Amino acid sequence: MKFTYYGHATFELETGGKKLLFDPFITHNELAKHIDVSSLKPDYILLSHGHGDHIADLFEIHKNSGAKVICIAEIAGWLGGKGIPDAHGMNIGGGFNFDFGKVKMVNAIHSSGLPDGSYGGNPGGFIIYAEGKKIYYSGDTALTYDMKLLADEKLDWAILPIGDNYTMGADDAIKATEFINCKKVVGVHYDTFPVIKIDKQATADKFSKAGVDLKLVPIGDSIEL
Ligand code: NI
Ligand code: MN
Repeated sequence: MKFTYYGHATFELETGGKKLLFDPFITHNELAKHIDVSSLKPDYILLSHGHGDHIADLFEIHKNSGAKVICIAEIAGWLGGKGIPDAHGMNIGGGFNFDFGKVKMVNAIHSSGLPDGSYGGNPGGFIIYAEGKKIYYSGDTALTYDMKLLADEKLDWAILPIGDNYTMGADDAIKATEFINCKKVVGVHYDTFPVIKIDKQATADKFSKAGVDLKLVPIGDSIEL
């Protein structure tokens, strides 16, 4: 499964010929100026929650691609009033089989107001089951005991925020890898704003010392999960 990083918490998973874009926030990210948003043609756009730094480029990319949006029911309802009437609404704990595989929405501890002040329901994360692999994207979240519910999933990779301030920082993300029983992590949600700037080397050392394989993918680059 191909993972491509577009900065902040924006990434694409390519599986079985389908492209799944997560939490699009590119044009307002100074670090992602070299990414051409109009070149993104996902089949699906998955939203973990309603904050601007996760949906800012949603409408532009949706217009260019006609991608199916997958998100919590309240955001799906909100999108219905904004010209996207066919978003696939889910809720925490629910799974659904799409043409690329299964998506299950799981709990996240965060907040989720929409940019116009509308109620965005609860924030969430996703488990993606495709190609016989299980990928966990936690979304913006604190460390939470609910992550222990994933310990038996035998996750292949976890995509976790590590920037601190708004989400888990490195120490809690390392603790999360124990809770979810997965030692292969792609770090996201760091460096974008001054309050979430990290020391990449110190962070890499910390994960390495804890026996966790941490990938910090340059923006625009891809790795195989
Ligand atoms: Ni957020
Ligand atoms: Mn965020």
